[in-house]
Amino acid sequence: MAFPITRLRRLRSSEPMRRLVRQTELSPADLVMPFFIRPGKGERRPIASMPGHYQYSVDELEKAVGEAVSVGVPAVILFGIPEKKDSRASGAYAADGIIQRACRSLKNRFPKLVVIADLCFCEYMDHGHCGVIKNGVILNDPTLELAAKTAVSQAKAGADIVAPSGMMDGQVAAIRKGLDRAGLEMTPILAYSAKYASAFYGPFRDAAESPPSFGDRSSYQMDAANLREALRETALDLEEGADMVMVKPALPYLDVLSEIRRRFDAPLAAYSVSGEFAMIKAAASKGWIDERKVALEALTGIKRAGADFILTYYAIEAARWLD
Ligand code: PBG
Repeated sequence: MAFPITRLRRLRSSEPMRRLVRQTELSPADLVMPFFIRPGKGERRPIASMPGHYQYSVDELEKAVGEAVSVGVPAVILFGIPEKKDSRASGAYAADGIIQRACRSLKNRFPKLVVIADLCFCEYMDHGHCGVIKNGVILNDPTLELAAKTAVSQAKAGADIVAPSGMMDGQVAAIRKGLDRAGLEMTPILAYSAKYASAFYGPFRDAAESPPSFGDRSSYQMDAANLREALRETALDLEEGADMVMVKPALPYLDVLSEIRRRFDAPLAAYSVSGEFAMIKAAASKGWIDERKVALEALTGIKRAGADFILTYYAIEAARWLD
């Protein structure tokens, strides 16, 4: 039925009317806040390209996470900056590693908080790549053993979810097997299934002190030009036992999100990455855009495209704005 019988403006006539028919509702319960943890005590080092974000020592982390909990953010994802890096990423799976200590401390202090451990090696390798290297090549299968070991170590320390982000083939299967063998069959895997080799990770690499010392990540992370490959990655991860899948970054890949949403029934996450955050912050600091409105519009768009939950550096601020 066309105009004049149909007038779509009828349902836009007032805020209560618009609320009634609103399709996508953003809630603090949809948001996951990332945190960076470094060694030491009483440390709270600002990250220049990510205003409002810091590298925290474990003691300071508790206070910052307390803020997230108090505004209704249900989950955090943790990234570690180890004391020292080496060629085997030993800091990633050390029983007293930075993430392990953070997990123990957070679960002790906030038993109901969902603690997600990012599982990747770039922060822990002296060369900054996400896998074991031999003769300048990033090796797949030797990296899988380390991934399984790291997952077990993180879960034993209290991580509620492990989230492999290295884009190695077979990493989900290796991790599932490792966890199950260790009696950790109830620990879910959130797979970064469609993780693109993106320039939007720029600020993160300063925050996590993890830039590759040579080359780039395009031999393991995906080509921005590819959608069908993301569907294959997702299908494989689900076959290998992923409990949830993720698309990363979010805003430049909304088509990938919506297509994965349409084709698969598993819970779907989106990672709105450091560069997406930094762009809004920077433009807002110049007074060029309304930060709150732009940030909430971006998150709403990501959810509308199909994300069940969103990892975002705006989690705490957005939760406050939504309140
Ligand atoms: C580690 C990892 C990265 C991000 C999350 N995990 C960086 C990278 O792959 O280079 C980026 C997150 C962000 O930019 O917010 N592999």
